[in-house]
Amino acid sequence: MQETSHAPTTHDSEEDARNRDIRIWVNGEIVPRDEAKVSVYDSGFLLGDGMWEGMRLHHGVWAFFDEHMDRLFDSCRAVSLDIGLDRAGIADALARTAEANGMNDDVHCRLMVTRGVKVKPFQHPGLSRSGPTVVIIMEHSKPVDRLQTRGIRLATVPQVRGLPMSQDAKYNSHSKLNCVIACLQAEQAGADEALMLDPHGFVNTTNACNFFIVRRGEVWTSTGDYCMNGVTREKVIDLCRAEGIPVFERNYSLFDVYGASEAFLTGTFGAQTPVAEIDGKPLGDGTAGPVTRRIRELYRDLVRDHVAERRALPGP
Ligand SMILES: Cc1ncc(COP(=O)(O)O)c(C=O)c1O
Repeated sequence: MQETSHAPTTHDSEEDARNRDIRIWVNGEIVPRDEAKVSVYDSGFLLGDGMWEGMRLHHGVWAFFDEHMDRLFDSCRAVSLDIGLDRAGIADALARTAEANGMNDDVHCRLMVTRGVKVKPFQHPGLSRSGPTVVIIMEHSKPVDRLQTRGIRLATVPQVRGLPMSQDAKYNSHSKLNCVIACLQAEQAGADEALMLDPHGFVNTTNACNFFIVRRGEVWTSTGDYCMNGVTREKVIDLCRAEGIPVFERNYSLFDVYGASEAFLTGTFGAQTPVAEIDGKPLGDGTAGPVTRRIRELYRDLVRDHVAERRALPGP
């Protein structure tokens, strides 16, 4: 197993040759990776008109499945996208795909639902007449150690998170152009990922993860108004509250960020990833500080207990 050789990203996993031969769910069929295809008329391809969830499989259990389904179903309902499956149907599709791949642990999944195949290559949703396209990609996936030992470098970028009445950041939509532009700006500034502000200039989120700072033992994150309602973000806030770690969802500026003792990102893939540097300014020694480490341990225990609880439930 070797680390990837490109510029670091927050989603780097160990190289795993088994991923070349994975099997992928495409609308009820489980096919080899090279045969997994969708139409060039698909709404997801043409317009980014679709929603997705990233989930991880731990010892046969999809961590926080209910929370991921709440977000997916809320997003799809909000844009009148009928998934064509209920939660049990999605759980079954996930189970069948995992089984076809012999996967049980250290698995990352991208579950995608689009408005389906259009009759013409134009925008109107009414032109999507095939019913939804559902694709499930599962890969063997272990985050590389480097994410913990060296941390991530962030650069603040001109691209901002928009107001909810343009494209609400809570949609985990196929179109991530806003985030992609931000990421490009960060890369071109020599960083790994972008730190994005909200329309008022307060620090909000990164292009692919939620963002936290630690100041004088307190944990701060944005109000949540302009960022993805991350499942991991919510778990971290809940854990802090339960463990008596002062945590605040509030407005704060780069002034507060540059004076922070620690910063970390949250997301399903990396759990909590330490930030080593922001806008060229180092944070601590670049590795996870004491508060980040404590939260990481609490989160690891939470996932372990959640998985044990789910495994103890009677099977279908
Ligand atoms: C822009 C953005 N922020 C944050 C997250 C992290 O969310 P979660 O913790 O639910 O994985 C994601 C994941 O999809 C994302 O796309």
